[in-house]
Amino acid sequence: MRYTLKTAWNYALADWHRHQHPAMPADLIGQPTPGGGGAAMILNALVCRDHCAAFCFWLRMARLPMSTGIGLPAKLMHRRLKNKYGLQIQPQTDIGPGLYIGHGIGIVIHPLTRIGANCNISQNLTIGSNRSTPAVIGDNVYIGPGVCIVENVSIGDRAVIGAGAVVVKDIPAGATAVGNPARILSRER
Ligand SMILES: CC(C)(COP(=O)(O)OP(=O)(O)OC[C@H]1O[C@@H](n2cnc3c(N)ncnc32)[C@H](O)[C@@H]1OP(=O)(O)O)[C@@H](O)C(=O)NCCC(=O)NCCS
Repeated sequence: MRYTLKTAWNYALADWHRHQHPAMPADLIGQPTPGGGGAAMILNALVCRDHCAAFCFWLRMARLPMSTGIGLPAKLMHRRLKNKYGLQIQPQTDIGPGLYIGHGIGIVIHPLTRIGANCNISQNLTIGSNRSTPAVIGDNVYIGPGVCIVENVSIGDRAVIGAGAVVVKDIPAGATAVGNPARILSRER
């Protein structure tokens, strides 16, 4: 997919709406994406009242090339927030629209990770790989605080990863996983 200014804007707007209404992602299935709110989103991005939503905005914009005019300021703002809050999420990471970052501090995501739409990520998360083969994460996934997702596991749509889990194996769609190593607590009905 070509990543244009329109894509960046739509993704940023979807992220913004998630930060206004932080429901569990599974509750959003079938819900229409609310429109509007662009002015409030930009104001927040400039003053960083909600630094998680502001980070998402600059993350989306920083992926644009310098020639768009917004690329350079976005890269600078992204870097500032990244360093300030320890949010090591690179602009080129493939993350679907509707990202929600809860209590954004101390997040490390390998840049080759793929994350679907409407996902929640929380503080002190690592999605890592020593072999450049990080996880593939579906849509509407909730990842609790203090989670570590190791190497090339696949996490299905609507999965819930409980606080403090260390995920070393695939998690099926709709399952809830907890613990170290993560075990399946419940499966989708
Ligand atoms: C994963 C989670 C969603 C599961 O919730 P749930 O389905 O309601 O599960 P329950 O609370 O009924 O617990 C079921 C069992 O799993 C265990 N369990 C629940 N969450 C666990 C976790 N994160 N790690 C290890 N075990 C866990 C419980 O101790 C219980 O064990 P038992 O049957 O031996 O007593 C939830 O526990 C969780 O981790 N939520 C994140 C909360 C949080 O930190 N939010 C962020 C705020 S900033």
